[in-house]
Amino acid sequence: MAGSVDVRGGGSSRKPPLVLGIDTSCDDTGVGIALGGEILANVVESQTALHARFGGVMPELASREHLEVIDDVLDRALAQAGVGLGDLDAIAATRGPGLVGALLVGLGYGKALAWGLSVPFVPVHHLEGHLAAAAAEPPFVALLASGGHTVLFAVRDWDDIEELGRSRDDAAGEAFDKVARLLGLGYPGGAALARLAADGDDTAVALPFPMQGDKGLEFSFSGLKTAVALLVEREPGLRPADVAAAFERVVVASLVSVTLRALARTGLSRLVVAGGVAANARLRREFAAAGVDVSFPPAALATDNGAMIALAGAMRLASGRVSEHPLRADAEPYLPLVGA
Ligand code: KG4
Ligand code: ZN
Repeated sequence: MAGSVDVRGGGSSRKPPLVLGIDTSCDDTGVGIALGGEILANVVESQTALHARFGGVMPELASREHLEVIDDVLDRALAQAGVGLGDLDAIAATRGPGLVGALLVGLGYGKALAWGLSVPFVPVHHLEGHLAAAAAEPPFVALLASGGHTVLFAVRDWDDIEELGRSRDDAAGEAFDKVARLLGLGYPGGAALARLAADGDDTAVALPFPMQGDKGLEFSFSGLKTAVALLVEREPGLRPADVAAAFERVVVASLVSVTLRALARTGLSRLVVAGGVAANARLRREFAAAGVDVSFPPAALATDNGAMIALAGAMRLASGRVSEHPLRADAEPYLPLVGA
């Protein structure tokens, strides 16, 4: 079984591998370094300011910016870890899912580094990175909630992952971002919306509960987003903080109730919550209040970063889950996690 403990050597005297991880799946250029399960460096150069004026990520701009800054981000990560390129035992990079042009930058860069240094290259699934960041040992149920995904998995082991359900439409983070934009909070606005919600009355505004009465393991957030848009248009006098609080209450309640159902159905007792929305304080509070044995990645590892890819790469190396021709791995914008 793989995991942060095994990766450290599992009692053997073998030195854990020093792995460099690269993530350029969206609009953050992330390079991290892990010594087995221990993170030595985590440098993220965010492009948020660059894309903010467009109200969303411009894919072509993102790819160019990754190219522009990746050398520097790598240098900073090496300096932070106090290691040189020659010390690295392996290079891991995200191969999908994500924006294809953006993925190609980090993937190509990682392959070239590995080739040049004659060390193994490990292609990594972006969501596997998010899971690795929570440093939990399977079996567990995983809720991944980010700007691009809202999906539940049963992770019985690292090579035995079943998808239980996902959002039929918008991802939870996407809904946060869209409502934040409606409220004039900029992009991406999830964290700003959560801050505003803290000053609001979450019962002052009535909103529909997504998939009311449904007993499945799917989510839906686009109806809720539309309801907020209509409400704000019809009642311009509403306090933005109240709208934010009511919206956050409903999204969190939906995430929690479907996830509790997934735990009950699978019989698994532990939960890992990962992805950018895992940074949400209300979500953390409500899972804890429900009495769930839940782990979250540390805040710095919740949003996209390279360290989580280094951790996932180290775990793959430790358990031998590596492909025969890793340098042939292509960037895959819609890569499913199951079987990756
Ligand atoms: O995992 P991530 O960094 O990137 C993707 O792979 O999408 O997630 C980013 C998402 C954004 O939609 C952002 O608004 C949301 O996570 N987010 C939050 C919070 N912090 C970030 N959503 C709700 N509450 C937060 N505190
Ligand atoms: Zn992500």
